[in-house]
Amino acid sequence: TTVRSSLIDPDGGALVDLVAAPDRRAALRVEAEQLPRVRMSLIDLQWAHVLAEGWASPLRGFMREEEYLQSLHFNCIRLPDGGGLVNMSLPIVLAIGDADKDQIGDKPDVTLEGPDGGVVAILRRVEIYPHNKEERIARTWGTTAPGLPYVDETITSAGNWLIGGDLEVLEPIKYNDGLDHYRLSPQQLRNEFDKRGADAVFAFQLRNPVHNGHALLMNDTRRRLLEMGYKNPILLLHPLGGYTKADDVPLPVRMEQHSKVLEDGVLDPETTIVSIFPSPMHYAGPTEVQWHAKARINAGANFYIVGRDPAGMGHPTEKRDLYNPDHGKKVLSMAPGLEKLNILPFKVAAYDTVAKEMAFFDPSRSQDFLFISGTKMRTFAKNGENPPDGFMCPGGWKVLVDYYNSLQAE
Ligand code: ADX
Repeated sequence: TTVRSSLIDPDGGALVDLVAAPDRRAALRVEAEQLPRVRMSLIDLQWAHVLAEGWASPLRGFMREEEYLQSLHFNCIRLPDGGGLVNMSLPIVLAIGDADKDQIGDKPDVTLEGPDGGVVAILRRVEIYPHNKEERIARTWGTTAPGLPYVDETITSAGNWLIGGDLEVLEPIKYNDGLDHYRLSPQQLRNEFDKRGADAVFAFQLRNPVHNGHALLMNDTRRRLLEMGYKNPILLLHPLGGYTKADDVPLPVRMEQHSKVLEDGVLDPETTIVSIFPSPMHYAGPTEVQWHAKARINAGANFYIVGRDPAGMGHPTEKRDLYNPDHGKKVLSMAPGLEKLNILPFKVAAYDTVAKEMAFFDPSRSQDFLFISGTKMRTFAKNGENPPDGFMCPGGWKVLVDYYNSLQAE
């Protein structure tokens, strides 16, 4: 007997799965040898992974021009036959250079190689169109200021063309970094939520170590869901695992830190699933947070936590936040195509020096609160100082101290 899942429907109705069935793989390998080849970077591979597992459902491959234009101008994509809109705020595109374009000519299908040259996928019925980098950057980030990490890393030096098409991945994408077992696909997460009998799934996107302020948001959400009458809400603690900027804490360190947070009982292991979200990070603030939320619908989450300055960062050349820290949650609560997702907006949490714990900031006694930024955290760890009691569980803090010490030793 099949148990019908009560989880939220994926965007477009059915979850996209672009990984070839095992019995097709041998034939695809033979075919791949005959086709023009395009080499993907590690970040391109991460996007291929995102597409293959259906995080971007109903998207079936790197964007063709029509999808690209809709994403860039509307932050949404129209479903065929009047099926309405789905949110899609970041362009998922593959850039190629002039030589690649010439080599492909008018051939319909192209082999995509991974960074090591191995065959990863075939892109079918391809379309090649101009990559107007300035327009893409300005529309995605709202600025072309120099020093945007994703832009410097992947766009500036990229080719002048984009290639879109339907993706067929030969095998599930693995990184062999000891963390693949954390990389559950949207379908695997859905199976896990069903197995656990979840009647609500609340997702927490993060790219930083978990401090007690983050935990406050997650535990408060659980309490609210129980109050609303849900019997078995499950937390998806969902660290982003693709590209992050150089001064962010690397994924393996974060995963270890997250384990300690569960071990130390800051979050309840019985009602939490920790998994890696394979997407690269853009640091595009309110535009990107829509992508973060949309992808979690596809993984079965019907509640999404959002706090201060999601996907934000400091302005690369000025002394201020790049985005208004409240805009992420405001935009998310109004975003077209995300109506079916329950957004849980939270005020900023900070260290309350009177109560000696992380608490929601109270502007009427602002002098009592301490904001502990990533930079401040790093300074504590570097100087061998402890952060104030109640900022982070001791086991989690130790992981960070060891990491920052290892950096200093270099
Ligand atoms: S993000 O790039 O993944 O958004 P981060 O890991 O810092 O960055 O944040 C994860 C989530 O926690 C986001 O929803 C963010 O808004 C929220 N958040 C981070 N710090 C705070 C804070 N001090 N108070 C409230 N929310 C916060």
